[in-house]
Amino acid sequence: MTQADDQISEATEQTNTQKTVIITGGNAGIGKESAIAIAEMGARVIFTSRDAKRGAEALAEVKERSGSKKVELLSLDLASLSSIRSFANEVANTTDRIDVLLNNAGLLQTSRSVTVDGFETTFGVNHLGHFLLTDLLRQMLTKTAAEFGGARVVVVASNAHKFARNGIDFDDLDRVKSYSAMGVYGESKLANILFANELAKKFADTGITANSLHPGYVASRFGRDGDTGRLDWAVALGAKLFAISPKKGAETSVFVATGESTATQTGGYYEKSRLKKPAPQALDAGAAKRLWEVSTELVDR
Ligand SMILES: NC(=O)c1ccc[n+]([C@@H]2O[C@H](COP(=O)([O-])OP(=O)(O)OC[C@H]3O[C@@H](n4cnc5c(N)ncnc54)[C@H](OP(=O)(O)O)[C@@H]3O)[C@@H](O)[C@H]2O)c1
Repeated sequence: MTQADDQISEATEQTNTQKTVIITGGNAGIGKESAIAIAEMGARVIFTSRDAKRGAEALAEVKERSGSKKVELLSLDLASLSSIRSFANEVANTTDRIDVLLNNAGLLQTSRSVTVDGFETTFGVNHLGHFLLTDLLRQMLTKTAAEFGGARVVVVASNAHKFARNGIDFDDLDRVKSYSAMGVYGESKLANILFANELAKKFADTGITANSLHPGYVASRFGRDGDTGRLDWAVALGAKLFAISPKKGAETSVFVATGESTATQTGGYYEKSRLKKPAPQALDAGAAKRLWEVSTELVDR
């Protein structure tokens, strides 16, 4: 390393230590490994859990494995609009800057259920919850971007968006007419990409970037809590044979959330820490605009 390299790395470290990163669903899997990696860089990490016990265990682990004390846990249930609003208020009382919002939490469910507000759960949690959360944190992101030269929204989507070949079914968002686990999950992940793309457009003049990503096929707890019902054994076998570790699965999230080369990139979709073209339905600007409008109405109801 040259002296100039040393100076750059010291400056990067100093910048990182002042940053605040929020991670949804940080008590498990990819979110927890992202929290550890980002805390190791020196940033203040605020991660969420919907379950107090799981959250407390993860908090201890994240602190221990990262060696950082600047890690905090807040409660958030994305299946409840009031929980999201309380969380946003708590964030505002806890920090005055948000450098990165990593919208990571997600689920897949074999059978249809609804959130406390009556939305189909997969769409409600994976998309609508994060839609409202991002909107509520928008002012703080904008302020951070203006004061510190940038802020990032990173959305953990999935290549499962490809399952939604016909795009978003706007006529049956609550899945009353038909339900298939992968179909609904795929649409929610398509919604993640469309949302990030529209956000990138709407934030274009603010210094806030918005990108989405596929973490890989990751051997996390995803879909393992009985969510996949009779297919549990197949999910477990597939994970054992083909999946990467949650730590490896967090690499793209961490890269997009903190990488220097990704600081100004916006409206992109990443896989294996590289920009990648998603399926055509994920680049449908009309659908992205419509999804934004519909989502605004839904979370206001
Ligand atoms: N694993 C993969 O192969 C894969 C592939 C592509 C994309 N992804 C995406 O990666 C992201 C992380 O998944 P993962 O693999 O790390 O799965 P995971 O281990 O199951 O972790 C998911 C996280 O989301 C949280 N969560 C679920 N429902 C929530 C709710 N209602 N409110 C708040 N948080 C909630 C979970 O909390 P609890 O612990 O309370 O359930 C957990 O912290 C998801 O968005 C998923 O769609 C995963």
